[in-house]
Amino acid sequence: MCGIVGYLGLKDAREIIINGLKRLEYRGYDSAGIALKDCDSNHFSVFKDKGRVAHLESITDYTFQSCLGIGHTRWATHGEPNQVNSHPHNSAKGRFFVVHNGVIDNYKELKSTKLKETVFESDTDTEVIAHLIERYSYKMSVSEAIRKTMSLLEGSYALAIIDTEDPNHLYACKNKSPLLLGINDDGIIIASDVMACVGYSTQYVPLEDKTFVEIDGASYTIKDIIGKEVPHEIKTIDIDYFNIEKGEYSHFMLKEINEQPAVIRTIINEYFDGDKVILNGKTSEAIAMSDRLYIIAAGTSMNAGFIGRELFEKMANIPCEVHIASEFAYNMPLLSKKPLFIFISQSGETADLRAGLVNIKAKGYRSLTITNVKTSTLAREADNFVEIHAGPEIAVASTKAYTAQIVILAILAYGLSDKHIDLRKELSKVAISIENIIDKKDYIEQLVKEYLTKRNCFYIGRGIDYYSCLEASLKLKEISYIQTEGFAAGELKHGTIALIEKDTPVIAIISQRSINKNTRSNLNEVKSRGAKTLIISTRSIHESDDQIVIDDVFELFSPLLTVIPAQFIAYYAALERGYDIDKPRNLAKSVTVE
Ligand code: F6R
Repeated sequence: MCGIVGYLGLKDAREIIINGLKRLEYRGYDSAGIALKDCDSNHFSVFKDKGRVAHLESITDYTFQSCLGIGHTRWATHGEPNQVNSHPHNSAKGRFFVVHNGVIDNYKELKSTKLKETVFESDTDTEVIAHLIERYSYKMSVSEAIRKTMSLLEGSYALAIIDTEDPNHLYACKNKSPLLLGINDDGIIIASDVMACVGYSTQYVPLEDKTFVEIDGASYTIKDIIGKEVPHEIKTIDIDYFNIEKGEYSHFMLKEINEQPAVIRTIINEYFDGDKVILNGKTSEAIAMSDRLYIIAAGTSMNAGFIGRELFEKMANIPCEVHIASEFAYNMPLLSKKPLFIFISQSGETADLRAGLVNIKAKGYRSLTITNVKTSTLAREADNFVEIHAGPEIAVASTKAYTAQIVILAILAYGLSDKHIDLRKELSKVAISIENIIDKKDYIEQLVKEYLTKRNCFYIGRGIDYYSCLEASLKLKEISYIQTEGFAAGELKHGTIALIEKDTPVIAIISQRSINKNTRSNLNEVKSRGAKTLIISTRSIHESDDQIVIDDVFELFSPLLTVIPAQFIAYYAALERGYDIDKPRNLAKSVTVE
């Protein structure tokens, strides 16, 4: 993970880098650092420490002007988050500063073969890069030294590099980790994500793997690893500045929960012409031609995938499997004759998914990515992609991307369905019903105070509600740190019921008439063992003491509603405990390591 921002130009490098890092904190926030050159001298200053970018800002010297710098916000992979392991890292003689996003798989081997004499300061894999570049810079130009180093690195990297002996240049290169250039007449930004450039650049250049960039103020050259210039595409930044600010909300997560009805309406506008679905013909054709769909995803996106499976199988009669991306990449199941692989990813950068995509591409299979980031690696590398149009999702805990992914999956499944529903109308109904739940958020906050009093919790449900329970429990555990399990209600009695004791919170999701009675009898089983039960049910099957009653919608769309109270439950449980809701511990939003 980690976020990188670098700048060389006429503007204030410190402001651009610090603001950029704040926007990239979703990529990791264990520690942060910056190296800046003083405009009036050849002096470079480094500020870095464990903690957030706000802390970095407070320890950075603001008394000098700077037009060149590189910064980093870290999600630790090698070495604990402390001052020494924070980036930038410096080469042995102090000539090069390097910030890195990715993992160098062969760093130990490089240490023992190429850098035997070097004394290492940190526990990171990154430090080998700084030392190698310096070592080769004695024998060749800096560009060649960086490209030579690239040729030795195995693994993933996005790098921004400063040569303190030549402050008129800034260097960058990448393989597997995302990196782009934000371009402007008065300077060039290097960043892990276009969000860091919003407000400073209107155009950007996404970089391909194994490319190297040399920047000298207003111009840049992009080369491949052997030094041959490569063509590139300049794209327009179309992210609205207000979309990446919290506005009136106390947290991005609260803002993003509230945005869900608007996101559904945006998707309707994007993918409907009147009552007709308009999708890229190749996408529909790819699904229709396949004999089995394989959804590959991680975390919340995988939970959306489970709902997708129900939609494809029940609406469109297409067999569908869901696979954990990190498992699928190296342990492929027996495949059908005409498989289609659907990669679902909010960020479009998740390394576990990319490993799977690389594998299936090598075997000649077809792929489709469903993502929120149309410029992402997974969008670029799959045969087709569908954008979910959720808008930038900043909170680490995914909310609106999950509902948007399900809506897109519903649209794809509907395209092949013989069910005659008015999809546009049904989705519009869902948007209104979500607003009805949002209106009850204060009441849900009270329920959280009353029910979520323990260190553990269970969500139980059956059928499609079970998959909603998986997402509900992931949301709760990741931001409130309450140990939560999503369980198939009928399975509890086969062992896990042993964990139920007095006042253990058990939350049931019941949205399907066919399993209503069964789930309620499982609830009675836990109640009689002391559990405190809270029920989320739909109006037509609710009972008088169910605490959260939601509207009835087309049954297969109920997960789009049942998840909303669960998102609020997670939010208020974390708020009650005083945790950092948007940046929960140990997590990062874009998981670019395997
Ligand atoms: C949970 C969450 C994660 C992500 C997972 C996959 O709230 O956000 O579980 O869903 O890391 O990320 P993407 O969807 O970007 O591939």
